[in-house]
Amino acid sequence: MGKIAASILSADFMRLGDEIALAEAGGADYIHIDVMDGSFVPRISIGSFVTDCMTGRVSLPLDVHIMAVEPERHIDSFAGADTEYIVVHYEAARHLHRTLSYIRSLGKKNGVALNPSTDPRVLDYVLGDIDQILVMSVNPGFGGQSLIPSSLRKLSELRRMREESGADYLINIDGGVYPHNAAEIFEAGADMVISGSGIFSADDPTAALAEFRAIAKRY
Ligand code: DX5
Ligand code: ZN
Repeated sequence: MGKIAASILSADFMRLGDEIALAEAGGADYIHIDVMDGSFVPRISIGSFVTDCMTGRVSLPLDVHIMAVEPERHIDSFAGADTEYIVVHYEAARHLHRTLSYIRSLGKKNGVALNPSTDPRVLDYVLGDIDQILVMSVNPGFGGQSLIPSSLRKLSELRRMREESGADYLINIDGGVYPHNAAEIFEAGADMVISGSGIFSADDPTAALAEFRAIAKRY
């Protein structure tokens, strides 16, 4: 069954607790946390003060997406009890293998995010060391953008690479995912989809989540 992560980047931060409760009640599998440093991507977003505040008060595991230069500097502060995945960008991690090992040494699952222009085969020599590969289907930094079509081909390529290598990473996708394109995204090879605007900017977020759930169930 496909999984769904709700990205709180598009939530109303004046009502963050209620927005998270909505995602929990609506059947999301993960809360996706976008950590932006104002350098790797233009803006600054959510810091560990926010995730610390959530610790023990959210029933869903966190999928932490670090969009920062020198991501290894931020791993410890996001390795709280509720965190399941800590995902760093291939383009920002200078010593990727070491960083992936470090995340696992903390008892967390690791992940590698790939920008739209990055060839998935750059991960060839670390495939067996990765728990999640995150296909960025928009250029990272902003919610509400449109999905870049070549991302679908990357999902299929990652499926093929997984079969050939015998590795067992989760294939995730982030950016421009809505109920109207979720089926073709799962079809192309995603195990999980992340949606911000598709949930929190919908007229009825609960109904949007129900639509996602109904589609995810088929995969
Ligand atoms: C973008 C972030 C995404 C963002 C996706 O850099 O990594 O997680 O929240 O937003 P939507 O679903 O609005 O494209
Ligand atoms: Zn993200």
